[in-house]
Amino acid sequence: MNEKNFLEKKSAEDTKFYPKFHLAAPFGWINDPNGFSFFNGEYHMFYQYHPYSAEWGPMHWGHATSKDLIFWKNKPIAIAPDENYDKDGCFSGSAIEKDGKLYLIYTGHVNVEHSHVETQCIAVSEDGITFKKFFKNPVIAKPESDEVDSVDFRDPKVWKHGEKFYCVLGSKNPEHIGQVVLYESDDMENWKFKNISVRDKKNIKTMWECPNLAELDGGDVMIISVTTPKDGTNIYETEYIAGKFDYATGIFDGGDRTLIDFGTDFYAPQITTTPDGRVIMIGWLSMWRADMPEQSDGWAGMMSIPRELIFENGKVKTVPAKEMKNLRGENFSQKNLSLNEKTELENFCGNIGELLLEIDLKNNPEFAVELRADEDEKTLLTFDAEKNILKLDRKFSGVGPKSSSEVTLQKSDNLKLQIFLDKSSIEIFANDGEATISARIYPKETSQKIFFVPQKNSLEIISADFYKLKCN
Ligand code: FRU
Repeated sequence: MNEKNFLEKKSAEDTKFYPKFHLAAPFGWINDPNGFSFFNGEYHMFYQYHPYSAEWGPMHWGHATSKDLIFWKNKPIAIAPDENYDKDGCFSGSAIEKDGKLYLIYTGHVNVEHSHVETQCIAVSEDGITFKKFFKNPVIAKPESDEVDSVDFRDPKVWKHGEKFYCVLGSKNPEHIGQVVLYESDDMENWKFKNISVRDKKNIKTMWECPNLAELDGGDVMIISVTTPKDGTNIYETEYIAGKFDYATGIFDGGDRTLIDFGTDFYAPQITTTPDGRVIMIGWLSMWRADMPEQSDGWAGMMSIPRELIFENGKVKTVPAKEMKNLRGENFSQKNLSLNEKTELENFCGNIGELLLEIDLKNNPEFAVELRADEDEKTLLTFDAEKNILKLDRKFSGVGPKSSSEVTLQKSDNLKLQIFLDKSSIEIFANDGEATISARIYPKETSQKIFFVPQKNSLEIISADFYKLKCN
């Protein structure tokens, strides 16, 4: 498709993989969530956007607003790569309100021979829709520390503490080891280097992208998105470190890195705080280098559902934001089932829906739940109570990626699962936020069945609920 035809197509919203209750661009490519904020009575979500094709290209900031974190209205593109300092892309960044205006802080990306230069820039809006780039951009022209490599130096995430603004940035040191750097400012325009906030204890050659500091009740958490070498290839993952952030030194003192989602498609998330004080995270529900069958329909990439972060016993739990409950429509419910063979429950079916399960594990069962199934397709969720491994297998899901992912859960008497299905995605929340697995799947629209398959010992279901979701 050439650029003109592509733009004339206007909307991919009626195509087969397009989500009903997740944010996606009307057409074109999206990656990271940017500028997630609450301003003028609405949530704002910006995103890395290439409106001229369903492939990554010079990044713009797409924009959508929402009253409820679920249904988003697309707005005009907020910023485009049209200045010398951002001509090859307005890369990821964040947003904050100051003096009744919405400030965006983002990375200006400029290609230079065999390399690139990254600087931090701002754009300001009075109405939250039209943005004007600051005439003195860039506001951080270079790292100002010889411990920071100036080539990969991006993705500012700003917040306010007391009278000051702080901003963490993704970077690497001159030896190419990933790290988070911290800057501070009194006015959003003049920024000072404060410190290297987090250094990589594992000394892995990579860069850390899209850092976020979440100050949760009970503990601080640094979230980073990294490429990690695994089995000979580099895979992209988002991890968190629990610890304590010290405003005096700018140092985040933390422990080990843990995955924030165990699936194949959750990256570069961004957090915001709601007016009622919850910390909500939304991630890019797609992945670099993944096969994306929706590209042939003129779009690529979508956002995850909003998830609340809760700190408990030194760990981060992620639960669906409470707003998700407003989507619930007709409910089909079953209680106390003892299954010895493959079973389909009446009305448990759909390519959109929410499935809730509570399973008794006392008899050490092994079982599978086949989702988005028909005769020749199924997305397999298996559990082995002996090893406590929950696994999502996409081998028979349909077209698109085939890889699987798994997580080892804590030993417990019951397993609770909450699963959201939306055309080409599955998001699984285990044990009230202990772990999540998120992935894109591309079954036929008609693969809508759910089967419960005991594999070793009977499958004792305490309760099963399927909700139709009110999406239209
Ligand atoms: C993360 C990322 C960011 C960058 C953006 C470019 O997915 O690589 O570091 O700002 O995507 O689109």
